Amino acid sequence: LGIVFTTSEMAGFAKTGGLADVCAALPVALSRRGHNAAVIMPLYRSVRVGPIPIEPTKYLLSVPFGVRIVPSRLWRAQVPRTSVAVYFIEHPAFFERDDSRYARSYYQFTSWDGRKYDYGDNADRYIFFCRAAIEAMAHLDFTPHVVHANDWQAGLIPAYLRERHQLKPALRNLASLYTIHNIAYQGVFPAEIYPLTGLDKRLLNHRELEYHGKLSFLKAGVVCCDWVNTVSPTYAKEILTSEYGCGLEGVLQERERRLSGIVNGVDYTEWNPSTDKHLPLKYNEQNAEEGKAACKKELQSVFHLAQEPRTPIIGMVARLAEQKGIDITCALLDQWTDLPAQIVILGEGDPEYHQRLQELKAKYPKRIGVRIGFDEALAHKIEAGSDLFLMPSRYEPSGLNQLYSLKYGTPPVVRATGGLADTITDTTPTTLNNGIANGFSFKEYSAEALRNALERAIQYYASSTEFRKVQLTGMKQDWSWNRSASQYEELYLRLIEERSKADF
Ligand code: ADP
Ligand code: GLC
Repeated sequence: LGIVFTTSEMAGFAKTGGLADVCAALPVALSRRGHNAAVIMPLYRSVRVGPIPIEPTKYLLSVPFGVRIVPSRLWRAQVPRTSVAVYFIEHPAFFERDDSRYARSYYQFTSWDGRKYDYGDNADRYIFFCRAAIEAMAHLDFTPHVVHANDWQAGLIPAYLRERHQLKPALRNLASLYTIHNIAYQGVFPAEIYPLTGLDKRLLNHRELEYHGKLSFLKAGVVCCDWVNTVSPTYAKEILTSEYGCGLEGVLQERERRLSGIVNGVDYTEWNPSTDKHLPLKYNEQNAEEGKAACKKELQSVFHLAQEPRTPIIGMVARLAEQKGIDITCALLDQWTDLPAQIVILGEGDPEYHQRLQELKAKYPKRIGVRIGFDEALAHKIEAGSDLFLMPSRYEPSGLNQLYSLKYGTPPVVRATGGLADTITDTTPTTLNNGIANGFSFKEYSAEALRNALERAIQYYASSTEFRKVQLTGMKQDWSWNRSASQYEELYLRLIEERSKADF
């Protein structure tokens, strides 16, 4: 098959979260299964100055943008040691602006108040990206059969693909899959911007691209694609409800028969304690105890915590956004006078959380460690050196960190929602007996429920044989991308077959 991914970020070039990890790993897993896979993304500054060399192709795209035709050079890179090519859409005024090592593709942190702001011209930027990506699809090294568009930034792509009569003949039979990684970010913009898309104005109606009088990128993707997919089966069900659907539950209910979920995978070349270059001692199932003890010692010293080998450390690495359950975590830590554990938190995001966490750290300097920022090496050290990994998410479409934790022998403590519910089996006498317990989970979104789950986990930690069993169950599980890739493959084949039977 020929599969082309369209995304605003891909690890190695630009990353704000798990979307980048998925768009880097899934194409590689598919290519290892014998498919042609390529990625199309914007040419951000971080791409140009990044570690992987890029080069201009001979193609100068003519991109219709409102009433103008804008020329855009198509650039290309080869993902090292793979057959995956990445194509970049050039538009310096739109994409050449981030100055950090990691392009935060669609927002920035301001220097004056540290807040996160979406770029004011995001509609222009991603309309241009989507329209240019359609042009780029005619110039890949292979013939694509299916377009896999991701999140709101690529939401208009299924809309362009549905206007088949406007496409070059080679693109008219393309199947489209649209993946929602997070329904809370929808790309909703004033309708005045719509003429820039060049799409038929009749599409801007409440059953299609319009959302309460505005243009919604995510809704466009959902309505116009051949199939909608999310990153776990539970999240696929949750977003049909008003609690999780963020206003799009009705639209999704209409597409329910063409909506499903596939849990993300892990890139075990990157996340594996037996090869991880960031660890003071590498380890596997056999020497996990010794390896983790060394990593824990280092972690306690990095965060200036009391050097206590038998006190459990709870680790957390997350975007500090409401989604991640930081509020109930802070609420719990606030009244925490007797929880017999240490906690280390790495993250960046909402400045209010930055402040609250710093205050908590000042209150309990020997028990709470906080690092505000984005630090990949430290993320690895936390996965390895912690005894428990915390993800009390309000919602979690898939989640990757709980899967990393399993491999690192760090049982996750999670709220049972979305992908967390699909991957973590709570430890009870029964699940322990059946050999399926791999972590700890709780249901109600509250500091109280979180505390109960943590106390339970800490009790198990104290009884080392049972805890060790939970650790080993997780370490042995296979959450590799190959597993998810085979499910995607099945879905692509089905869509391509349907498309070949449909006449447009
Ligand atoms: P989301 O995409 O919602 O942020 P995921 O669990 O899918 O959540 O993926 C998050 C990814 O981003 C993981 O690879 C995680 O290690 C990484 N990450 C998040 N915050 C940080 C940070 N502050 N420093 C380093 N890595 C981070
Ligand atoms: C989103 C979700 C996260 C998921 C990631 C990749 O950012 O919040 O749960 O793992 O996308 O699919």
